[in-house]
Amino acid sequence: MRTRLTAKNNKMLAEDLPVHDWYRFVLSFPPHLVRRYLERFAITGDHLVLDPFAGTGTTLVECKKSGIPCIGIEAHPMSHFASRVKTDWRCEPAELVEAGELVYQKAWQQLDKEMICDVPDFFDTPRHNHLRTLPTEQMRLLLKNSISPLPLHKALVLRDNILEMPEPVAQYHKLAFAKALVQSASNLHFGPEVGVRKIKNDAAVLMPWLDNVKAIASDLAESKDYADIPSTMILGDSRSPQQEIEPASVDFVFTSPPYPNEKDYTRTTRLESVLLGCFSDMAGLRSHKKRLLRSNTRNVYKADDDDKHVLLHDEIQDIARRIERRRIELGKTSGFEKLYARVTRLYFGGMASHFEWLRTILRPGAILAYVVGDQASYLRIMIRTGRLLGEIAEALGYEVLDLDIFRTRMATATKEHLNEEVLLLRWNG
Ligand SMILES: C[S@@+](CC[C@H](N)C(=O)[O-])C[C@H]1O[C@@H](n2cnc3c(N)ncnc32)[C@H](O)[C@@H]1O
Repeated sequence: MRTRLTAKNNKMLAEDLPVHDWYRFVLSFPPHLVRRYLERFAITGDHLVLDPFAGTGTTLVECKKSGIPCIGIEAHPMSHFASRVKTDWRCEPAELVEAGELVYQKAWQQLDKEMICDVPDFFDTPRHNHLRTLPTEQMRLLLKNSISPLPLHKALVLRDNILEMPEPVAQYHKLAFAKALVQSASNLHFGPEVGVRKIKNDAAVLMPWLDNVKAIASDLAESKDYADIPSTMILGDSRSPQQEIEPASVDFVFTSPPYPNEKDYTRTTRLESVLLGCFSDMAGLRSHKKRLLRSNTRNVYKADDDDKHVLLHDEIQDIARRIERRRIELGKTSGFEKLYARVTRLYFGGMASHFEWLRTILRPGAILAYVVGDQASYLRIMIRTGRLLGEIAEALGYEVLDLDIFRTRMATATKEHLNEEVLLLRWNG
């Protein structure tokens, strides 16, 4: 059965900004979508909710706001950090602002001595030969020109002061820093893929950061009543068992896994990941990438074998064969293009592996909601992600309840509809 939701769009409502807006992915699903499903399935404080692909924590924050205990799993250290901080509401807001103002003054004075002003173009900044920068290995990890030398210098001065702060206060300042870095200091834009648009020589860093700190403090003051609602963030791979979660304990899953669409989550968050020390060289980056679902060709490795889980799925095998045939017909020979068929099999195999272990932690009768989108990124061969994931889950004993259409867009190249859907499953035990 297919249900068309009345959801108007994917936009975040103004009333949802508190906490969600501390740091988020541009394309995260909106909080009101989570709410709609929590209400539809009457999920309350007596239940346990899991988001196994937690990203920046939309599901978890929404659960906490509704008084519902929740667990998140996220494989990328930056997103894991963001979700963890966004669900820790135990800090004293006044302490946060006080510590922030001290750091602000210290960093401002340091810059002032160097005749550098946080307000761009306030006066002509003299040419500096000794601006701080990152070690070569770390610079190589950044998208080219993602941040100009002067804002980078200011950001490093600020960061080093933040790193001297004690925890747990420091974590909020680091998250506020990540947001200021991307939204103010950097040359990045998201539309929806991350890229560099206009290179600006200077940008404010300290002031936007302090504004973010103050916004966090004000949200914390308003969220106090829910600070004790239990929430746990696990840094891990949702394709394999997570010992921290008790068997047969989860009542509801609400999540959005990656889709097979070439989106590289490690690029989207690269600047803040490097500056906050999530990884500091290619080897570190690679070790984190290996924990991610294979949803893009920049993240496929020789030893990968998730495809073994979908060997018997005729349609997935057929899609992979058609992609490879189309590639040959079109004479596409780049290394990435040659991996399109393989990454498609690996993606669905990885999701099969995820559904398999999940069975052990679900309470009989548990409901699962997967927000996924159709894709035609691989040489225009249509991949109906939601329907295929439903079939994989069914073969593993889940019941498919529904496939709600939540948004539709037209693929310009093929003129076919690409649906964004919520796949609803039930685990009957
Ligand atoms: C579509 S995003 C989720 C966005 C999320 N709903 C939010 O509120 O920001 C998918 C997330 O899954 C994460 N991910 C990918 N593979 C994973 C895996 N094997 N285990 C856990 N998380 C994974 C990615 O790093 C990314 O943050």
